[in-house]
Amino acid sequence: MSRRTIIAGNWKMNTRAAGGAQLAQGIADAVGENPTVEVVVCPPSVYLSRVGDVLAGSAVSLGAQNLYPAADGAYTGEVNAAMLCDSGCRYVILGHSERRAILGETDAQISEKLAAALAGNLVPIVCVGETLQDRESGKTETVVETQLRGSLEGLDEARASGVVIAYEPVWAIGTGKTASPEQAEEVHAFIRKLLGEMFTNDVAQQMRIQYGGSVKPDNAKELLGQPNIDGALVGGASLKVDDFVAIINAG
Ligand code: PGA
Repeated sequence: MSRRTIIAGNWKMNTRAAGGAQLAQGIADAVGENPTVEVVVCPPSVYLSRVGDVLAGSAVSLGAQNLYPAADGAYTGEVNAAMLCDSGCRYVILGHSERRAILGETDAQISEKLAAALAGNLVPIVCVGETLQDRESGKTETVVETQLRGSLEGLDEARASGVVIAYEPVWAIGTGKTASPEQAEEVHAFIRKLLGEMFTNDVAQQMRIQYGGSVKPDNAKELLGQPNIDGALVGGASLKVDDFVAIINAG
């Protein structure tokens, strides 16, 4: 079973219109169609259309960082799946640890967002990952299992293979501390085993699991070389064309 590597840049709350367009252009210029590596950039929602225009006709897809799981209506400040699609998105990141920690997002809310994303024809990237305290107290697997089962609650086996999981140990995000390839592979293998229990082994073999947390040009190759690591969700290094392209080329 060969899974297409997926490298996604999570710009978080960074860039301005002109800089974001320039960054997207640089990436689009450097990335060609590649049957084995897929590339996604996820700018802030206010810049999606602009970045989408820059990426039009390129090999790079557009993704959002969040959505609100409701149809149009009185939800001040929110953006739904139909709007993201209309702005050119194919992907949406859900349940990022920053949203879980800062905005109190729960697994139940993430599962609603997942359903809305799929209903809106977006490919969800569902994030899970333990804190340093969880890891040090031996709770990594319990925490990841709870998040995974909770966030994927209600997901149909028929649609599961199209969902992307991002394993992002919280202690490795933006800290410069990367999980070692062995540490990451261990959790990825655990996640794939769980997905096999939740769906079928066949489905689990098709699902892509990205690693995220201080992925850089100099550690990307080794991480992406692990059997159960199918890509990277990249924060800081996705804001520099050269670094992001080097990570893509390592895939
Ligand atoms: P980082 O962020 O690459 O800056 O650690 C990754 C993420 O939060 O998705």
